[in-house]
Amino acid sequence: MTLTANFAPARRGLQGVLVAPADKSISHRAALLGAACEGELRIAGYLRAADTDATLDAIRALGAEVHADGSEVRIRGVGLRGAHEPADVIDVRNSGTLLRLLPGWLAGQEGRRFTLDGDASIRRRPIDRIAEPLRAMGAQLEAERLPPFSILGAALHGVTYALPVASAQVKSCVLLAGLLADGETTVVEPLPSRDHTERLMLRAGVSVTRRGPRITVRPAAPTALDELTVPGDPSSAAFWAAAATLIPGSHVIVEGVGANWTRNGFVAIARRMGARIVGEIELPSSPLSPDDPITTLEISSSPLQGTVVEPDEVPLAIDELPLVALLGCFADGETVVRGAQELRVKESDRIASVVEGLRALGGEIEATADGFVVAGTGGLEGGQISSHGDHRLAMLGAIAGLASRRGVEVEGIDSVHVSYPTFAADLARLAT
Ligand code: S3P
Repeated sequence: MTLTANFAPARRGLQGVLVAPADKSISHRAALLGAACEGELRIAGYLRAADTDATLDAIRALGAEVHADGSEVRIRGVGLRGAHEPADVIDVRNSGTLLRLLPGWLAGQEGRRFTLDGDASIRRRPIDRIAEPLRAMGAQLEAERLPPFSILGAALHGVTYALPVASAQVKSCVLLAGLLADGETTVVEPLPSRDHTERLMLRAGVSVTRRGPRITVRPAAPTALDELTVPGDPSSAAFWAAAATLIPGSHVIVEGVGANWTRNGFVAIARRMGARIVGEIELPSSPLSPDDPITTLEISSSPLQGTVVEPDEVPLAIDELPLVALLGCFADGETVVRGAQELRVKESDRIASVVEGLRALGGEIEATADGFVVAGTGGLEGGQISSHGDHRLAMLGAIAGLASRRGVEVEGIDSVHVSYPTFAADLARLAT
């Protein structure tokens, strides 16, 4: 089903206080590690959205007991080596994170066979990036470049693997496989990427160390995690930070936002453009800790200048780069994003879909091989945009509509259920 929605220009500034929806990345990881533990894990504030529900269904199919009562989720795991062979294909739906993380755990389930598949967007997302390191560890995969693919659980050995691209999904997959290997596993990152897997593993009593770009895990069964509260998702909060920045007269407070420095590149970029975002973010120099810090962001509208986003900032703001393009349309001067070729293999080709979408609204934006260049014109006219089934594109269109002169019709707004099912309700709260 594809739904269309209209987002009229906001008549006055956005006002109010919101609690950010739960973090998608942390919810996936908590469920997967919970399934690999033997005791019970109680998760408060689990993200109940299509992507993270797919993870709950996947771990159920693997034998974990899952009780979900709204955002309170209890998981009784099967233990590190106890995943059951499921009767059917595991359907990851639209979730790239589940597609890439789960195989790390399954690769070491000796003698059992698992097949993973997903929706049309998943069938365009490369899995050779996980197949290569897993095979180096001894995994047996029947996999080409794209899903579906199968894993036959095997004995694994530790490796040192240098990631060709900064990808938290690939890093996490290898670290999870490392728990089942027969020696240490080290992942070398070209640039820092989100570190929630490392933090949760530390919390679960696993030895994980980070020395510069090298992250090393020692094989170990994670101990019961007991209780965990998932912080708010900075990637979801970023939509309100952008909206409140662009719509004159806005003043919005978003509470409970994850302040992990590996996730907050957008706040740094937006501030550099002139955004008035108050709130403390963790420092990049902070040691690896088992906790994900949280913060409150307070955003007021402000004029913007263009900026250049260099490749080293990209992994810290990867899912928010479409919003940087939107801010760029309203800014004074040029906004350039470089080194973001990974955007081509997200839920949509986000270089093509952002450029096509913002152009249709009157934006002056050109695609490059590894990003885009926006000529700021101080605003957007409005028009029609397609989400291409990509949740972040749908929300980008909605915010663009509120900030535009004529409004925006978003085709495929229903895709917001992937990460932010309460998006419309939160918008209504801020807009009235
Ligand atoms: C994610 C990592 C990122 C990000 C995705 C979620 C994760 O992907 O784009 O939305 O939870 O690990 P890559 O690691 O492939 O860059």
